[in-house]
Amino acid sequence: MHIRIHPSILSADFVNLESEVGRIATADAVHVDVMDNHFVPALTFGPQMVKRLAEVSPIPLDVHLMIERAEESACVYADMGAQSVTFHVEAATDPAALVEALHDRGAQAGLAFKPGTPIEPYLDLLHTVDMVLLMTVEPGAGGQAFMPEMLPKLDTLVSYLQEHHLTPLVQVDGGITAGTLPTAFAHGANTFVAGSSVYGHGDPETNIHTLRIAATKGHP
Ligand code: DX5
Ligand code: ZN
Repeated sequence: MHIRIHPSILSADFVNLESEVGRIATADAVHVDVMDNHFVPALTFGPQMVKRLAEVSPIPLDVHLMIERAEESACVYADMGAQSVTFHVEAATDPAALVEALHDRGAQAGLAFKPGTPIEPYLDLLHTVDMVLLMTVEPGAGGQAFMPEMLPKLDTLVSYLQEHHLTPLVQVDGGITAGTLPTAFAHGANTFVAGSSVYGHGDPETNIHTLRIAATKGHP
């Protein structure tokens, strides 16, 4: 089975982002963590940065919005060239309308859940989204440890999708390494965000390859 690796440039060198995205050309997409200093304490990229990244990146952009009031600016990121825009259910007043608005702009729409947010109230929305992102760390920073207690939530999500013949990407974000990826893969995740395990040491292309190989160990 093909798995998707989305390296997070949160762990890349911020003053050399063009060359940093050039180092991950064998990945499936660039994961861009947009943080607003409100939804999470950190502050990272804005629309202009996303626009330039989309212009220079060899692979599509997967934008993960960790921002309050997602409705106010999610579509801007679609207009700036993001292939997919993922927002947090905790930060949107009408997630269904926002999914539709993103689709109208020609972007794929993703729905993200913090570790403490149950997915049950949002199951109906899974019929329209292109990706579901389960956070496997508290959002806000790279380099944290994977939370295995998120696996039952992943099981619930995957069972629901199978039962209803739905095929959005199932993305996990936080603490993904060659050690934790096989477990998440065995529980049904197919799209893996990896920041520090791609950019934190050695050669990013080699690290991406190592993650792909690791998935073969997680086959149920
Ligand atoms: C955390 C971000 C992640 C982060 C992952 O809030 O959403 O995308 O970059 O970093 P690692 O892979 O180092 O846990
Ligand atoms: Zn992220």
